[in-house]
Amino acid sequence: MLGNTFGRVFRVTTCGESYGIGKGSGLAVIVDGVPPGMRITDEMIQKEMDKRRPGQGQLDSPRKETDQVHIFAGIGQDGVTTGAPVGMIVYNVDTQQVHIDQYRDYKDLIRPGHAEYTYFLKYGEAADWCGAGRASGRETVGRVAAGALANIILARDNIEVVAYTKECMGIRAREMSFEEIKRNYRKNEINCPDLEAAERMIEKVLEIKAEGDTAGGVIELIIHNIPAGLGEPVFDKFSAMLAHGIMSIGGVKGVEFGAGFKCSNMKGSEFNDHPYLEGGKVRFKTNNAGGVLGGITNGEDVVVRVAVKPTPTISIEQPSINMMTMREERLKPITRRDPTLLGRIYAVIEAMAAITTVDALFLDRGWEGMARLDKRWVDLKRSREPPPVRHT
Ligand SMILES: Cc1cc2nc3c(=O)[nH]c(=O)nc-3n(C[C@H](O)[C@H](O)[C@H](O)COP(=O)(O)O)c2cc1C
Repeated sequence: MLGNTFGRVFRVTTCGESYGIGKGSGLAVIVDGVPPGMRITDEMIQKEMDKRRPGQGQLDSPRKETDQVHIFAGIGQDGVTTGAPVGMIVYNVDTQQVHIDQYRDYKDLIRPGHAEYTYFLKYGEAADWCGAGRASGRETVGRVAAGALANIILARDNIEVVAYTKECMGIRAREMSFEEIKRNYRKNEINCPDLEAAERMIEKVLEIKAEGDTAGGVIELIIHNIPAGLGEPVFDKFSAMLAHGIMSIGGVKGVEFGAGFKCSNMKGSEFNDHPYLEGGKVRFKTNNAGGVLGGITNGEDVVVRVAVKPTPTISIEQPSINMMTMREERLKPITRRDPTLLGRIYAVIEAMAAITTVDALFLDRGWEGMARLDKRWVDLKRSREPPPVRHT
């Protein structure tokens, strides 16, 4: 299997499955590019891990995983990062035989909406049939641990990442300020800062859950205080890298920046964000661009909406095909699941956004350093003035 590393300078590599090899199975992440001298503890990472952990409420999978993270590499005797890769591990603790047996019973059947069919096409009979292997939501454990590290780096620059539930089954949160969103979005199980809409969303999901079914929704991501200048045209635009990171999360079916798909019904005069001066700084009156122009951040918040599909596993019998016999069969209602992904996926979206932003910062600052150096070579002939400084 290829493609288990994300990032160009701040690089995150994950491994691990939902069930894996018996009692010792787990999920690990190696993070390359962590600066030296950062004080990091298991507890600091655990705070983020607890956002994604299952078994916390009515909207989560009943799987009781503690998701206890242990940092096993990259921290020296003084308790600070050494500059070496940071390694973190989480063991699976709720891998019950009854569920393994259930997965074995239907391992040859295509589970509609899930990845068994395409994994079988690619990896054949060796594909991990238990709990969806790498296609399980548990794969995202390592991403959240790496995202916690990235957030500690971003905090030095006051950059904040928040992803909250904007919409669920036709119920939409009202427009709110970033401060209000940040204050309220963790106050309920569905992570919606509009507390009245949140109640209606939860009621709707529980109704759907009682029918044995699952619900989809939209998460809005805001990267607040992100500096202008991040993103490397043309292939590594900030928007392209962020979309890559978010679209790599299981269950995500779409991303839109700023006005997004609404732009199809807008005139240029309506869509264009008009610049104005605020204390000598360029700002924009609207943010239809979602904070990115030409693939480079423009200093406004990056705003992205993420379409999240309903959890594929449902408690309703569905048509299927047995991949070994190539016969049509029925798939019976099965095992544990999240009735909606909204209660947990937001933490993974925040993690991927934090990782992408740190990676983009490293690239930009590295490039800027080189560009300044080049400028000095040229300037030396004419003057000894230092070159102008960006982002200050
Ligand atoms: C945090 C998280 C939890 C998930 N929980 C479940 C689950 O309980 N049951 C399920 O069928 N899918 C779950 N998924 C979704 C599957 O991982 C995903 O649908 C599957 O890998 C197929 O990929 P695709 O939907 O991107 O095509 C979860 C995803 C995430 C990110």
